[in-house]
Amino acid sequence: MARSITMVKKRLQSGEPCPKCMEVQAFLEERGLWSQVDEVVWADEADPDSPGWALAREHDVSLAPFFVVREGDGATRVYTSALQLARLLVRDDEAAREQSADPVEPPGDDPPTVVRWALERWGAECAIAFSGAEDVILVDLAARTGLPFSVFTLDTGRLFPETLAFIDTVRERYGVPIDVVFPDAVAVEDLVRRKGTMSFLVDGHHECCSIRKVAPLARALAHKRAWMTGLRPDQSPATRGALPVVERDDQHATPSGEPLVKVNPLVRWTAADVWRHLREHDVPTNPLHLRGYRSIGCAPCTRPVSPGQHEREGRWWWEEATRRECGLHLK
Ligand code: ADX
Ligand code: SF4
Repeated sequence: MARSITMVKKRLQSGEPCPKCMEVQAFLEERGLWSQVDEVVWADEADPDSPGWALAREHDVSLAPFFVVREGDGATRVYTSALQLARLLVRDDEAAREQSADPVEPPGDDPPTVVRWALERWGAECAIAFSGAEDVILVDLAARTGLPFSVFTLDTGRLFPETLAFIDTVRERYGVPIDVVFPDAVAVEDLVRRKGTMSFLVDGHHECCSIRKVAPLARALAHKRAWMTGLRPDQSPATRGALPVVERDDQHATPSGEPLVKVNPLVRWTAADVWRHLREHDVPTNPLHLRGYRSIGCAPCTRPVSPGQHEREGRWWWEEATRRECGLHLK
């Protein structure tokens, strides 16, 4: 788990926020630090039982605004001074910048080495992107290191029920929380109102993927420094042929503007290598694989393939091969 920051703001009897709280928010905004505040909890002047006052009692604070900072390791600190909080955040950003200026290169390119290297470097601030398919291998390799790590899945609302059940299986097997990230409800409602539920069959999958996958990915990666994918060249020679093990991700940045690092630990492995590891280590797999599904995404856009077919033929099969990328991995 990454750090989380809660700001407790005071609401006056009039219903207005207290001016000091607004000043403190503006102070953080001016320094580009406001985006690191995850939630605002209100302490109502008229209601001593409101959540903000409950937090104040819990942390023995008598005034608002104040900040509760929970670190990834569970340590909690309270800041009544926005200046002190800003110093902490700026110091950490500088440390992150120094670290990201280091040469970014793992000591080897086999998947266990790459995964260990990434987690030693970023820990839970490196998020594993788990699609609910054979990329479960990333979770398995990460769990074997004994190091902290984090995992997220983008639930597009169109996943197979088998995939949803499999996500729970993985959560239980490895005892690791999996952050399930959903698309923006209003954006989905708007798309469906304008174009119906299957617009991707008519004018291509990019609009739907962009709402249901690409935008939520940005949210999943907020507050992260790196992410790890299950991309392999053999999944799609047309679009994934020349993948680096480590790359700079200019699409996503830390709150201080540093590009994230994207780690692709499986680039030296083929599907056969992945399946060998899954079998040898008795790793749970999505039951759809047994029914001919090889590359697994959303239900309406995924179908099983026959033994002679390439796995990518089971994805967006009505579109040209070079367009069969949902946008998660575009440069
Ligand atoms: S896709 O772009 O065509 O959908 P693919 O299914 O091949 O991607 O998966 C490649 C990698 O992208 C996965 O190993 C995973 O890291 C990431 N990924 C794809 N879909 C998701 C998802 N729904 N949630 C999280 N990560 C995903
Ligand atoms: Fe929409 Fe299909 Fe893309 Fe899923 S894969 S987000 S259903 S277009």
